[in-house]
Amino acid sequence: MIRYKTKKDRLVITDNKTNVKYLIREQLAVFTPRPLGDPAGQKTVSTYLKLLTRTIENNDYIELPSDNVPLVLVGDVLHWLRRIPSESISCIVTSPPYWNLRDYYVDGQIGQEKTPEEYTDKLLEVSNELLRILKKDGAYFLNIGDTYIDKGLQMIPQRLAYRMLNEVKSTGKNRRKIGWLLRNQIIWYKPDHMPSPVKTRFTNTYEPILFFTRDDWEKNVYFDIDKIRIPYKSDWEDNNIGLPHSLSETEYKRLLPEIEKKNNELGYNGKFRGNEVNIGASPGGRASVTGINYIKKRKVELPQEIICDYLREWREKRNISVIELDKKLGYKYTAGHWFRKDAGGSLPTLEDWLKLKEILKFDNKYDKEMTEIHYVLQTIRKHPDGKNPGDFWEMKTAKFNKNHFSVFPEELPRRAILACCPPDGIVLDPFAGSGTTAKVAQELNRKSIMIELQPKFVDIIKERCEEIREVSYAD
Ligand SMILES: C[S@@+](CC[C@H](N)C(=O)[O-])C[C@H]1O[C@@H](n2cnc3c(N)ncnc32)[C@H](O)[C@@H]1O
Repeated sequence: MIRYKTKKDRLVITDNKTNVKYLIREQLAVFTPRPLGDPAGQKTVSTYLKLLTRTIENNDYIELPSDNVPLVLVGDVLHWLRRIPSESISCIVTSPPYWNLRDYYVDGQIGQEKTPEEYTDKLLEVSNELLRILKKDGAYFLNIGDTYIDKGLQMIPQRLAYRMLNEVKSTGKNRRKIGWLLRNQIIWYKPDHMPSPVKTRFTNTYEPILFFTRDDWEKNVYFDIDKIRIPYKSDWEDNNIGLPHSLSETEYKRLLPEIEKKNNELGYNGKFRGNEVNIGASPGGRASVTGINYIKKRKVELPQEIICDYLREWREKRNISVIELDKKLGYKYTAGHWFRKDAGGSLPTLEDWLKLKEILKFDNKYDKEMTEIHYVLQTIRKHPDGKNPGDFWEMKTAKFNKNHFSVFPEELPRRAILACCPPDGIVLDPFAGSGTTAKVAQELNRKSIMIELQPKFVDIIKERCEEIREVSYAD
């Protein structure tokens, strides 16, 4: 059996068998410990901590918000994160206290650790909990600044990111491994950055915003870029004005002289001029030189599996191997791709389909889909709603708030939430401060959870949001 005793902010666990005492200085001590049974033979503090955490996880989950009134949890970040159910949060946006920079005048605050290692240890513990509570298709935006020691930049954001990427967590029945995937390092450039007195280096004008998803991230990740498009800076016009997106073969042939005339008029004179072989490599580069260009495409793209099954059936009927097919077609290692359903598979071209038909003598079932073609315009077209904001975000710093000094601009959580939180998802800011994330989430009609240790800041959150629901340890 093991016994517990709480002493102020610490928990003493005694193993009766060995009479060994373990002291846990975590905020965990604020929980009323429950009997955990006898973890025979397991004597490390971390084992007990894990058991304790699991007990807490299983028994003490908070009730998730059901409307857009921000739920403000007052207290330590780890205390509250452990009480949020797994895979329940769609979008995390936060800015933790930076290391060695500010004092928030509250016991248990993060940021006062003696070394960058101790600081990243703490944030890593937080990030592990975040990984557990983030939905499979969720996103984590971490705005974290750096610190100088003896005139040397400590690379704190990168150190933390690196450790996060190496951290792997097992979850679920099958102890599936999950970890973090770093999708972007966004630069938040501050056009109104503070003037700096430094004489032997450059002024700091930006902060990183690390954008993570879970590494079991699948194709269905929630990312709605259309909600955060920004206007194009230059006023370039599409060079295909008035031309249809697709043409039949006859229409294309009829229009060809006009297209050629227009292209001659464009008279490209830029850096790719004369580079006709693999012009600029990018579609943009190629379009610059070739101007208006239509490419021949299948009208209907049938799923690969359907054609693969169909071809397999006919190949079996005709009893022909893939090697034989290649031989007959005059190819080497090509036919095999038509009989694969994985990423290495491909559909036969229009010409190959007709040749295959002669060899395999299959019916007409898919002839229409596989042979009907049209011509599709290949120019760069402006998106009517603007462009992807990219990974360089120019945002003025937030206006000075007399009671909270490290407020981030509303545009930061606004972009994160609009792009990565579905309308019925929950937004979380585990270091809420003055509640910028809560305010924006409420305006965007999203449910939100805020965690903040300093009760004084909760008053600011109250002021900034129409309404909040506040919960503290005592409740
Ligand atoms: C950089 S500020 C967040 C500012 C916020 N983004 C805003 O716009 O107001 C970090 C916040 O984390 C809080 N904090 C520090 N240690 C904490 C802990 N252990 N648990 C919860 N919050 C903590 C601080 O009180 C501070 O308000």
